[in-house]
Amino acid sequence: MRVDFRSDTVTKPTPEMKEFMMNAPVGDDVFEEDPTINELEEYTANLFGKEAALYCSSGTQTNQIAINVHCKPGDELICSKEAHIYKYEGGGIASNSGTSVKLLDGDRGRIKAKDVKEAINDPENVHYPLTSLVCLEDTMNRGGGAIYDINDIKEIRALCDDERLPLHNDGARIFNALIENGIDYKTYASYFDSISICLSKGLGAPVGSVLIGSKSFIKQARRVRKVFGGGMRQAGIIAAGGLYALKNNVDRLKIDHQHAQILADTLNKCSWVQEVLDVHTNIVVAKVSHEKSVMEAVHAMAEKDVHAMPFGPDTLRIVTHLDNSPEQIKYAQEVIENI
Ligand SMILES: Cc1ncc(COP(=O)(O)O)c(C=O)c1O
Repeated sequence: MRVDFRSDTVTKPTPEMKEFMMNAPVGDDVFEEDPTINELEEYTANLFGKEAALYCSSGTQTNQIAINVHCKPGDELICSKEAHIYKYEGGGIASNSGTSVKLLDGDRGRIKAKDVKEAINDPENVHYPLTSLVCLEDTMNRGGGAIYDINDIKEIRALCDDERLPLHNDGARIFNALIENGIDYKTYASYFDSISICLSKGLGAPVGSVLIGSKSFIKQARRVRKVFGGGMRQAGIIAAGGLYALKNNVDRLKIDHQHAQILADTLNKCSWVQEVLDVHTNIVVAKVSHEKSVMEAVHAMAEKDVHAMPFGPDTLRIVTHLDNSPEQIKYAQEVIENI
C-alpha cells in the first residue's frame, strides 16, 4: 500500500470532481468572460465578505501578486523568518517586487504585534527602507500547521491600522485554521486587506489559488497577474475543481486533523523520536533523536512505501490529506512503530 504524506498537494481529483470540471462552462478569462471563474471568484469573495477575488495559478502567484500590489521597489515587508513567502518562493519578493524583508522569530512562525511594532522603520529617517506591508501565514507550514491565536491577529490588525500598513495573510491552509478555531469566515477575513487561499492543498483541487480583497486591490492584482504571465483563457475547466472543492471538501478537513493526531501519538511512542510538535491541524513535525537520522527514518518509511519529507537537519514532516484512508493511517502507524 502506497501512502504519501509528503504534502497535501499530492491529492488527485475524484471522479465526481472530474465530472464537474468536464461540464464546466468556459470563456476567455482575460476578457473576464469565463462563467466558472467568475462564479468561483464571486463565491470566494462572498464567503469571506470581501468585495472581490482573483483566480490564479498557484499560491506562490497569489502571494507574489499581493506583495507586488502592496509594495514598491525599495520598500520593506515584515514577516516570520519561516514564512513561505520568504523561504519557499524562490526569492520572488526581491525579484518580482524589488522589496526588502524584515524577518521576525515568532513562536512556530507566528509573529506578535510587539515584535512587528519594533520592526516598523521610522518613515522620517531616510536611511531605512519604508515599511509597507505585514504578512502572516495561517496555518503556519513550517510551524507544523500551527494556528494563530485570533487575539494576536487582532492586535496586529490594530497596530497596522495605527501605522497605516496593509496586512496580508498567506492562507494557503486557511480552512484548516478556521475549521479548528470555529471563527466566522467574514469576521476573520475582516482583519486582513488581502488573503491568498489555496484550492489545491487540503481541499483537493488540482490547480489554483484565489486572492481576495477590496475591489480596487483586486483591480490592481488583475493587472499584475497579466504582467506576471498569469492571465489564463478557458481556465474554468480547472477553476471548476476549485469550486467543487470549496463546496464539498471543507468540512472533512477535520478527518485529516484526526489522522495527524493519530500519527503524532504513534511517533511520540517511538524511541527514535525526541519531540513531536503539538498537532493543531494536518501537519506533524517530529524531531528525531541522534539514534536515528532524519534521512534514515525517511528512507526506512519509504522502503515500506510510506512517504514523508525531511524538514530540516533533525526534523521530518508528515502532512495528512484527502487521499489518506483510515487503512492507510493504520498501515503507516505499523510502519512507524517498526522502524
Ligand atoms: C504556506 C504556503 N503558502 C504558499 C504555498 C504556495 O503554494 P503553491 O505551491 O500553489 O505555489 C504553499 C505551498 O505549499 C504553502 O505551504
